[in-house]
Amino acid sequence: MRVSFTVNGRRLEADDVWEGESLLYVLRERLGLPGAKNACEQGECGSCTVRLDGVPVCACLVAAGQAQDRAVETVEGLGTASGLSPVQRAFVDAGAVQCGFCTPGLLVAVDELLERVPRPSDADVREALSGNLCRCTGYEKILEAVRLAAGGPDAPGAAAGPAAGEAGGAPAGEAG
Ligand code: FES
Ligand code: FES
Repeated sequence: MRVSFTVNGRRLEADDVWEGESLLYVLRERLGLPGAKNACEQGECGSCTVRLDGVPVCACLVAAGQAQDRAVETVEGLGTASGLSPVQRAFVDAGAVQCGFCTPGLLVAVDELLERVPRPSDADVREALSGNLCRCTGYEKILEAVRLAAGGPDAPGAAAGPAAGEAGGAPAGEAG
């Protein structure tokens, strides 16, 4: 079947899509957008996070046909190599760019959070990122990046001091 949808503001079509094909597969393999990563393919890790009509989803769990006539935003839509988005810039500046598997999904999730909640608390951030796993490092740099993107050291989330009580802490619901 043919799937027609809008990806990062451009109207695109994917042909020969089979019924069970995931949105993630279509983005990566048919449209040449490898930003969303395939790490677990089971909806567990958040590496494949994209926005579907503005809402973060695991693209590995969305059938491509469900995206028909809808708007998809991927990490490629956030910025460019020469013009990083504010969230991307904050991740770089805070040293929160860890590996290439978790970072794209985190960027998409944080971008959505800040659009919805411009000055999130740390609890808001942990909740928003609870579906984005990192298996290798910690989440503290990510929290710092979100505080930076939300307004720097004066952001409410940073008011209690750097990393107070959060060393090694994972987002809500993720212990490791
Ligand atoms: S690859 Fe989709 S949630 Fe892990
Ligand atoms: S999964 Fe990305 S740094 Fe661990």
